[in-house]
Amino acid sequence: MPRSATGRHTVRQASLALTRLVALLVVVTAFGSGFAFADGDLAKGVKIFERECALCHTIGKGEPNRFGSNLFGITQRKAATAPGYKYSQQFTAMATWIWTPDRVASFVVAPAATIPGNKMSVFQGVADSDLDDLIAYLAAQK
Ligand code: HEC
Repeated sequence: MPRSATGRHTVRQASLALTRLVALLVVVTAFGSGFAFADGDLAKGVKIFERECALCHTIGKGEPNRFGSNLFGITQRKAATAPGYKYSQQFTAMATWIWTPDRVASFVVAPAATIPGNKMSVFQGVADSDLDDLIAYLAAQK
């Protein structure tokens, strides 16, 4: 086989390999983004919840509200809908969304800045280093 033919063959193979790699990366990126907190450690998450949140929130199904609302199923339910809990006007006016893991994460790192005047504003926010484990734990309580 002449040299030039071999060279073309190699280039074709290389570009095919590159196409496959790009396709794989697209799939990995799309898949990965939906599972941003899937790597969180649940055992660490429950400890963070107890330390940072349990003073004001329960999370078991049917448990009572405290100073804050019960958080069962929080990463997939509509905001401000815990039965029997009286939310502040500031909160109900702004929090009209359905919670997702990402939305809960951005709220709990900075509650006062996300919804000014809401009743959780006294809480200074979760450290970035605790976020993955905490959100993975919250998402598992449903
Ligand atoms: C000092 C008490 C306090 C602490 C600590 C606290 N929260 Fe809250 N949280 C509240 C209150 C009060 C509200 C209701 C806000 C309002 O109505 O203005 C709330 C609301 C929420 C909501 C919205 C609930 C809903 O039903 O839509 C989420 C989510 C939440 N808190 C998560 C957390 C997490 C996670 C932690 C721990 C990292 C935490 N909170 C720590 C008091 C607290």
